[in-house]
Amino acid sequence: MSVRKIKTDVYAVGAIDWDRRLFDALIPLPEGTTYNSYLVKGGEKTMLIETVDPTMTHVLLGNLKELGVDSIDYVVANHAEQDHSGSLPVVLDAFPMAQLVCSNKCKPMLIDLLAIPEERFHTVENGATLELGGKSLQFLYTPWVHWPETMVTYLKEDRILFSCDFLGAHLASSDLFVDDKAALHIAAKRYFGEIMMPFRAAIQNNLDKISGLEIDIVAPSHGPLYNKPRTIIESYRDWADPEPKNLVVIPYVTMHGSTKLMVDRLVGALIDQGVTVEQFDLTSVDLGELGIGLVDAATIVLGAPTVLMGAHPLALYAAHLANALRPKLRFVSLIGSYGWGTKVVEQVSGILTNLKVEVIEPVIVKGAPTQETFAALDRLAGEIAAKHRENGFKAYSD
Ligand code: FEO
Repeated sequence: MSVRKIKTDVYAVGAIDWDRRLFDALIPLPEGTTYNSYLVKGGEKTMLIETVDPTMTHVLLGNLKELGVDSIDYVVANHAEQDHSGSLPVVLDAFPMAQLVCSNKCKPMLIDLLAIPEERFHTVENGATLELGGKSLQFLYTPWVHWPETMVTYLKEDRILFSCDFLGAHLASSDLFVDDKAALHIAAKRYFGEIMMPFRAAIQNNLDKISGLEIDIVAPSHGPLYNKPRTIIESYRDWADPEPKNLVVIPYVTMHGSTKLMVDRLVGALIDQGVTVEQFDLTSVDLGELGIGLVDAATIVLGAPTVLMGAHPLALYAAHLANALRPKLRFVSLIGSYGWGTKVVEQVSGILTNLKVEVIEPVIVKGAPTQETFAALDRLAGEIAAKHRENGFKAYSD
């Protein structure tokens, strides 16, 4: 791994994890990820901002050695989660004079997670500043991006915002800055959908908080840096906006093909009505793709066949995920086939308790779909399209 210079006396010293394919034993990482760590050298003091995932501690220490760093005065933990904090015990051992800088809420979390000794902490209030000598670092509390203790660190002289998870993306790249804008946009939107979406209101507040800063570079703790920060900040404004787009997301599973026939009919009817559709086969879907779709969707229609009176477990999983991610959905419906009996509507309704949605009458049929079923699906498409029009939802474009 190599050290990369961002500005005079500001370096990227973190690690690229090209091969990681799963985060939190849950989130797919098709493009790998990075754990960004930054070294800021002032005339008098030196600061390390974030550490790295514990699997990559050796990379961070190697980079610090390559830079000839023999003392660190401050180590900043903007966020307590272990992919950034996990190397802290080793780093604090390696630099025994370093103080651990974090928010008041972060301190007890780091003690709980990593058993950091009390005496190593230097907690900072919102707005506090530390001077390194020609480099001034300000700390701004930005709670719930995506834990309660999160803050960002702003380097005034170089106009760099170290934003940790906020504005980040799981994307392994050897480029320090954005090169392939489309790829980064998709990775950042996926990250927003998977990690940030449940906290849309907090994100809007935090965007307001940083709006007064003059930012030349956004340096998150995952993925490439932004030297045109307006791009990612405006994308976050759009994604966090409560108004959905003219988009229906249809996650489905089928056992003997009946529910798939129903999905096909509904998708065609929605397209005929001018509605954008994204369809996901839950037996093979990358959950991040579903998360991207949910960022903008106005409606979700779950395609769920019945197994032993209840919804297929993959459909239940998708319902639980949609409920947990709290997207800006306005409407929900359910379609599917059953063999001899079903409680699928009651069961799925009982899961979607976080969503403030209007339920559009489901289409649940016994056996294979008939012409009557297809007519009901056409009516469902018409109703969805009419509701989207009445609400003036804008066209969806990714
Ligand atoms: Fe990248 Fe919330 O840790």
